[in-house]
Amino acid sequence: MGGKRIAVVTGANKGIGFGIMKELCAKFDGIVYLTARDEGRGLAAVEELKKLGLTARFHQLDIDNADSISKFTEYIKNTYGGLDVLVNNAAIAYKRESTVPLGEQAEHTIRVNFFDTLALCRSLFPLLRPHARVSTVTSSSGHLLRINGNEPHASALKEKLASPSLTEEELCDLMNQYVEKAKEGTWKEAGWPYKPYEVSKVGVSALTRIQQRAFDADPREDLVVNCAHPGDVATDMTSNRGPLTIEEGAVVPSYLALLPPNIKEPKGAYLWYDMRVIDWVKGPIP
Ligand SMILES: NC(=O)c1ccc[n+]([C@@H]2O[C@H](COP(=O)([O-])OP(=O)(O)OC[C@H]3O[C@@H](n4cnc5c(N)ncnc54)[C@H](OP(=O)(O)O)[C@@H]3O)[C@@H](O)[C@H]2O)c1
Repeated sequence: MGGKRIAVVTGANKGIGFGIMKELCAKFDGIVYLTARDEGRGLAAVEELKKLGLTARFHQLDIDNADSISKFTEYIKNTYGGLDVLVNNAAIAYKRESTVPLGEQAEHTIRVNFFDTLALCRSLFPLLRPHARVSTVTSSSGHLLRINGNEPHASALKEKLASPSLTEEELCDLMNQYVEKAKEGTWKEAGWPYKPYEVSKVGVSALTRIQQRAFDADPREDLVVNCAHPGDVATDMTSNRGPLTIEEGAVVPSYLALLPPNIKEPKGAYLWYDMRVIDWVKGPIP
């Protein structure tokens, strides 16, 4: 137990997560866990890496399943005693042409992308060792200025979300309020944008800022979390539209996962796929 440095990537069996695996397997000094909700798809991805000369270990992890989160956490704790890198990559998005009612899409998308990511962080953060790095994959859709429903409510929401004293509980309340408004069909009047995916990613971007504040007050030394827009990447999520390859999309999330010890910045920041730190509150969105 102990000794080895450990990195974990969620939703790593395909897409950008698989691209991040390639980067970390090549560059991380330690053991890299490819996690996936489906064991067959995860093990097949580990085999793919092996063909490229890269070594990863597999563990099942469905972030939408509390039992799976707790089994994985226990496994890491009992096997290694700690964790050094967490990449929150797993997420879902409904297709534009989906006929699933908005309220249902909102509930599901906010649950997986926001609440499940938060649940995994809450479970794994106690295991983080000094100098740990957390890299959360957000989106251009996760910029605060995406909150663009009716005024003055949109401005009031933005002010709350941008507040340097926003708590996790308050952020959870806001996410739940959006789901309610989406179900009622009153999301726009309440200031929210139409797309659940946008709200979920604004949520994880806001969460990153809150988490860094907690890290700054943590007795463990030098804990850092950032989030990044990986660019428009051709994956199943985008129906293979998008100019970037998974390797290109993996660049900034991997960079954030591998930030060296004792860096001054970025911390609690929102990065663009070209590595620029973007002002999440004022914009502009590039
Ligand atoms: N592609 C883009 O242009 C783009 C742009 C901005 C942000 N992003 C973000 O980049 C990240 C990766 O997206 P992608 O484009 O690579 O999408 P993708 O190809 O659809 O891959 C998503 C991954 O997440 C996994 N996943 C979904 N639900 C999960 C759950 N409950 N537990 C564990 N894993 C789960 C999927 O597993 P299965 O194979 O089992 O479904 C898959 O491995 C996401 O956070 C996405 O929002 C993508």
